[in-house]
Amino acid sequence: MEEEILKIKKEAVQQITAATAAELESLHIKFLGRKSLLAQLTARLRELPPAQKPLIGRLINETKRTIEQMLEEKSGALAKAEGEEFDLTLPALPQACGSLHPLTLVAEEIEEVFKNLGFVVAEGDEIEDEDHNFSALNIPLEHPSRDMFDTFYLEEGLHKKETQGRLLLRSHTSPAQIRVMRNLRPPLAVLVPGRVYRPDAVDATHSFMFHQIEGFAVDRDLRFSDLKGVLINFARKLFTAETQLRFRPSFFPFTEPSAEVDISCIICKGKGCTVCKGNGWLEVLGCGMIHPRVLQACGIDSKKWQGYAFGMGVERIAMLKFGIDDIRLFYNNHKKFLEQFNAF
Ligand code: DAH
Repeated sequence: MEEEILKIKKEAVQQITAATAAELESLHIKFLGRKSLLAQLTARLRELPPAQKPLIGRLINETKRTIEQMLEEKSGALAKAEGEEFDLTLPALPQACGSLHPLTLVAEEIEEVFKNLGFVVAEGDEIEDEDHNFSALNIPLEHPSRDMFDTFYLEEGLHKKETQGRLLLRSHTSPAQIRVMRNLRPPLAVLVPGRVYRPDAVDATHSFMFHQIEGFAVDRDLRFSDLKGVLINFARKLFTAETQLRFRPSFFPFTEPSAEVDISCIICKGKGCTVCKGNGWLEVLGCGMIHPRVLQACGIDSKKWQGYAFGMGVERIAMLKFGIDDIRLFYNNHKKFLEQFNAF
């Protein structure tokens, strides 16, 4: 009998160890139930000589207790393992979360200011032809910006049938004015953000690729004062409500009259500091009334319609806004730099 009991115990140990939660109940019945081998052995106790009864009886009881304990422990262990996998009350694992690039943040903020005035956002083409990038914008053949050293021209042979002149990487977003005005009729108010390319040597303030935002509107009776109004609104929304603007007469072939716009230095409030190089003003954009020749190049009657336009560098605005002193920081993907914009 002793041997039989030990065999049962051994079997129970093996089966309980390997059991799944669903099998525990039937193992309980198998080893401890009324028809179990141990129950049968208990019934046979009376057949034993009186001297053996207490010993075997105790062995049976001990074995029962051991099996019972093992079943309980196993059931506890299985419940715990399951709980670890499915405990919905535990806090979620932290996710490594990216954030918007500072240039995206600034571009979106600028877009928002103009969208609120009714501007729509459009995209131009990064590969342009000489007509859109220069000629239609009233930039003459002899203009220095058309020089090989100031524009990336694409290889000969890449000309498509519909292109006029050589293909190039656009050197400003202004060609988008031509694309939009040749396709849509005024009144128009459009904003065009995007990449532009110039063969400049890379340093703290120059890059061969950077971002611009072009804005323009065409309507009846548009005046320079309308342009001033939207730009003052823009600067005060993007920087501070106290920001002052200065319009300096300037020249661009595609606008007449033209101006360059400075804002009062956001660091020293116009007193003079290292950022504004002591003069209290920071140059932020170029603008003007769209030249009648540009309207005409797009089939718009310049007697009936007037337009204004402006163009700004996104990197320049972002550097001023965030106090960044090296343009290269925008492009080298250093996590330490980018992480600082998580909160914006
Ligand atoms: N396209 C000019 C540049 O890249 C910027 C500019 C100046 C855009 C005046 C305009 C404008 O629309 O009116 O330097």
